[in-house]
Amino acid sequence: MKPLTVLGIETSCDETAAAVLRLEESGPVVLSDIVLGQAAQHAPYKGVVPEIAARAHVEGLDGVIAAAIGDAGLGFADLDGVAATAGPGLIGGVMVGLLAGKAIALAHGKPLLAVNHLEGHALSPRLAEGGAAFPYLLLLVSGGHCQFIAVLGVGHYRRLGSTMDDALGEAFDKLAKLLDLGFPGGPLVEKAAQNGDSKRFSLPRPLLGRAGCDFSFAGLKTACAREAERLGALTDQDKADLCASFQAAVCDIVEDRTRRAMAMFEDLEGAKGRLVVAGGVGANQAIRSLLQALGEERGYAFVAPPLRWCTDNGAMIALAGAERLRLGFSDDLSFPARPRWPLDGEAARLRPSHKPGRKGAKA
Ligand code: KG4
Ligand code: ZN
Repeated sequence: MKPLTVLGIETSCDETAAAVLRLEESGPVVLSDIVLGQAAQHAPYKGVVPEIAARAHVEGLDGVIAAAIGDAGLGFADLDGVAATAGPGLIGGVMVGLLAGKAIALAHGKPLLAVNHLEGHALSPRLAEGGAAFPYLLLLVSGGHCQFIAVLGVGHYRRLGSTMDDALGEAFDKLAKLLDLGFPGGPLVEKAAQNGDSKRFSLPRPLLGRAGCDFSFAGLKTACAREAERLGALTDQDKADLCASFQAAVCDIVEDRTRRAMAMFEDLEGAKGRLVVAGGVGANQAIRSLLQALGEERGYAFVAPPLRWCTDNGAMIALAGAERLRLGFSDDLSFPARPRWPLDGEAARLRPSHKPGRKGAKA
C-alpha cells in the first residue's frame, strides 16, 4: 500500500487545530500536530461563546495550517488529501474549517474528505503507539458528546447508548461555573475533588441499574445546585467536598453504564474486546482508573489515547480522512457544514437522544 499523507483541520468547538499525518501499512505516523486553544477568550463568559469561537478560528486557522505544513517539512503539493471536520459542532466554526479545507483542496487539486468529528474521536485511540485493533467498545465523553459506540471498523459504528440531556463534560463545566472555579471546568473540578470528602453530600445517580446504557446528568446537576444554594456562601472546603461528591457520583454512573454497554457489545460482537475512552473527559484520572479496573475485571484490554489526543485535535481528523481515502472515498466540494451529524444515523433516527428543537452545543 502506498502511504497516504493527509492534512486534518479541526474547528468544531474551541480549538483551532491542524495536523499532517501519514498513513502507512503499519499504521499512522503523526508528522505535525498544532492546537491553538481559545480558553482565554471564552473564560470571561465561563463557557464557549459560538460567535467568539468562529471569529477566533477565522483569525487563527491560516497560521495553524501553515505551522502544521511547515512542521511536517512538506508543501501542499505533497498531500494526498485534505480532511476537515464538517460537523457536528458549532456551525460558525465548522464552516470556517470546512471552507479552508475546500479552498486548499480546490487550489491544489487534492481530494476533500469531509470528516465527522465523532468519527475522529472514535478512531483517535488508533493514533497511540500500538493503536487499538477493531472491534472495540468506545466511551466517548466530551463537552458536547456522551455515548457508547461499538466501533466495528472504519465507517462501521453502532451507537449503543447516549445521554438524554447533558454531555458529561458539560456537567463538569456547569458545576465549575456554579462554584465559580473557572473555565474549562473539568480539570478544575477534578483538582478541587482531590481535597474533598466524597461522602459529605449524598447526590443522586440517575439511571443507575436501569436497562440499556444511556446516561442522564440533569438531576445530578440540579442536586449540586440545590446543595450549593442551601449552604449559601461557600468555603473552599465546601466546594472541594461538592466536587468530590459529584465526581464519586459520576464514577458510579460511568461504571454501571459501562458494565451494561459491555454486555450489549458482547451480544453484538459475540466476543469481548477492547474498552476505549476518548474525548476531553477521558483525561479525568478517576474515570480512567475506574475503566482500567473494570476492563481488568471483565477481560477487556483498556486503551486510552494520550491526553493531547483525548481533547479536540487535527491528528484524529487527518486519520479519519486518511482511512476513508484509503477505502476509496472522497467528498464533493459542495459538502455542507452540518451542526448535527450522528455517527450511527439509524440509531439516531430510531432512538433520538434529544427532542426535536433541543439545541445542545453539539447535540
Ligand atoms: O473533547 P473536548 O476537548 O471538546 C469537545 O469535543 O467537547 O472536551 C472538552 C471537555 C470539557 O467539557 C472539559 O471540561 C472536559 O472535556 N474535561 C474534563 C477534564 N479535562 C477536560 N472533564 C473532567 N476531568 C478532566 N480532567
Ligand atoms: Zn470533540
